[in-house]
Amino acid sequence: MKLKNDLVLRAAKGEDIERYPVWLMRQAGRILPEYRAVRAKIGGFKELVETPERAAEVTVQPVDILGVDAAIIFSDILVVPEAMGLTYQMVESKGPWFEQTIRSEAELKFAETDFDIEDRLGYVLEAIKITNKELDGRVPLIGFAGAPWTILCYMVEGRGSKTFSESRKLLYTNPSLAHELLDRITKVTIQYLKAQIKAGAHMIQVFDSWAGILGTEQYAEFGLKYLDRIATAINEVPVTLFAKGAIASVNALAKLDCNTIGLDWNMDAVKIRQEIGESRTLQGNLDPCALYGTHKDVENLTTKMLDSFTSKRHIVNLGHGVYPDIDPDKVKTFVNTVKNYERKN
Ligand code: CP3
Repeated sequence: MKLKNDLVLRAAKGEDIERYPVWLMRQAGRILPEYRAVRAKIGGFKELVETPERAAEVTVQPVDILGVDAAIIFSDILVVPEAMGLTYQMVESKGPWFEQTIRSEAELKFAETDFDIEDRLGYVLEAIKITNKELDGRVPLIGFAGAPWTILCYMVEGRGSKTFSESRKLLYTNPSLAHELLDRITKVTIQYLKAQIKAGAHMIQVFDSWAGILGTEQYAEFGLKYLDRIATAINEVPVTLFAKGAIASVNALAKLDCNTIGLDWNMDAVKIRQEIGESRTLQGNLDPCALYGTHKDVENLTTKMLDSFTSKRHIVNLGHGVYPDIDPDKVKTFVNTVKNYERKN
């Protein structure tokens, strides 16, 4: 089906755009009362993720309500470790929890690779198909997965953490186990992303949320190496790599075979543009906390960011996912400021 609004895809490929496109990480869920209503009806987060019709419904909500230029499929990065053999629970106001973790060779049996993606993750693929029917070509649909390093963090730690020290410990005490696990996650992730594209995802984003907890050398060895494999393998649609906190590795990331680099709010888009030239699109990167300001503040800060861009190769977003207690009206102000902005270059 031909897309009515393909700004995000054109911006990713460096083609001409009438204006900058805008969407928000974590726009599906978290902030919308309409999302919470659907979740309450069905029971919980996981039930929602695993029910394609409802997942499609909350995927489309931000397009209808916030007016963003892309939808992102409602799911989670943790569906991959679950498909590999580690089930998780999403504990209300605490986050994910895995009963089993992988910290030894013997536990590698909980990291399977030899299974059919359709069989274990078919519910995500079905949600993608339904979403595209409901979107009817209004905007592109973004598919996603966690980066191997970030997924390893959850498989080893078994839950969220500020330091992920069990995961970092493994890199020193048993690097070959870490590499084996990363290799397995990478294999499954490539198959999973290709299945999402086949189901109808127009674009792919890989989230390396815990990139910033590794030093530069370790991130090259345990992070970038596997992102490289994913970026090289996916060439059907544009690919965005978002390595949160990896300030020292942005230039190396930009050398991988991707279209767009996601920037967090600590990264300097102007400086990065000077360093990498026009070769990649930059996505981001307003501080999510900027949306706690007044409507006027949001407008001014967003305009200031847009004024700093010296290239058409930008997809506007926050520097990380939108926070749960942000007023959806402030998000609308952010979105509308971008949509009404007249590009000067
Ligand atoms: O962007 C979108 O709106 C699409 C859906 C999406 C979710 N999670 C839904 C979700 C996406 C892209 C993710 C990615 C994700 N999940 C990441 C990478 C991005 C990032 O934020 O760095 C990570 C690290 C996770 C793991 C995860 N999922 C955690 C730590 C938590 C609990 C804390 C939190 O973020 O709320 C989740 C739960 C989760 N994933 C929710 C949603 C809407 C909240 C569950 C709820 O309250 O309904």
